[in-house]
Amino acid sequence: MAEIVAGIGISHVPALGPAVEAAARGTDTNPGMKAFTEVGEWLADTRPDVVVMVYNDHGASFSFDLVPTFAIGAAEFYRPADEGFGRPPIAEYPGAADLSWHIVDQVVNDGFDLTVCQSLDVDHGFSTPMKVLFGAPANWPVKVIPLAVNVVQQPTPTARRCYDLGQAIGRAIASYPDDVRVAVVGTGGMSHQLQGERAGHINPDFDRQFLREIVEDPGNLASLSNPEYIHLAGSEGAELVMWLIMRGAMDEDVKQALSGYVVPVANTAAGVVAMQNLA
Ligand code: DHB
Ligand code: FE
Repeated sequence: MAEIVAGIGISHVPALGPAVEAAARGTDTNPGMKAFTEVGEWLADTRPDVVVMVYNDHGASFSFDLVPTFAIGAAEFYRPADEGFGRPPIAEYPGAADLSWHIVDQVVNDGFDLTVCQSLDVDHGFSTPMKVLFGAPANWPVKVIPLAVNVVQQPTPTARRCYDLGQAIGRAIASYPDDVRVAVVGTGGMSHQLQGERAGHINPDFDRQFLREIVEDPGNLASLSNPEYIHLAGSEGAELVMWLIMRGAMDEDVKQALSGYVVPVANTAAGVVAMQNLA
């Protein structure tokens, strides 16, 4: 049977890739970077076969005229999206299409009507965490399942809905008959706002509370409304609801493996947390 071997929450600000490389070289000595430089090795030790990457498209693949609330990739491969500078020189990501279809079949029956993408280009919301977790290999060591969430255009799904979807995905993975080791990654955040009157908004107190509660008390984070997320974390920090999909897929009781927080990376607070089920 399939098994979830790792759960990770991680920011996807593009500047994180170079920041982690600088920390690994020793030229960035911010102690908060330690967890970012260690998370890839930690993940490799859990020996995942497949990564379910919960991310958001930033207008690169989904036109703002056509934004699905939840969309899952069910393809044999995914290409990195052109975000305005040509397609980046990143290896294609191999898909786990059979497991994607299994998840779709299960969660639709569970009340979550996902949009299914048999072709999908993935932007920095996906590729930045992949780079931090695996570097830039010629061939990726895992297959991937992109799960795109609308956190860019109102109305966006609630934290509660995301947590519930995560629980349905966790049940779906547990019912997959093949012995596949799955890591679930929730991306985005931490607090940041890239536009408007509050551009530059960063809230370290809330970010630290979120990093603690995503492990110990996700029910509290699931109970916050979207206006509360925007108020606390900023209009783009509201991406954090995607971490709740990851957390919902994990067991109720988990143990934390690592946690880290850095302010700022570009004009964003960046966080990472990794956890495993107890059993
Ligand atoms: C940036 C982009 C993001 O998508 C994000 O979540 C945070 C920061 C950026 O371009 O700096
Ligand atoms: Fe983003």
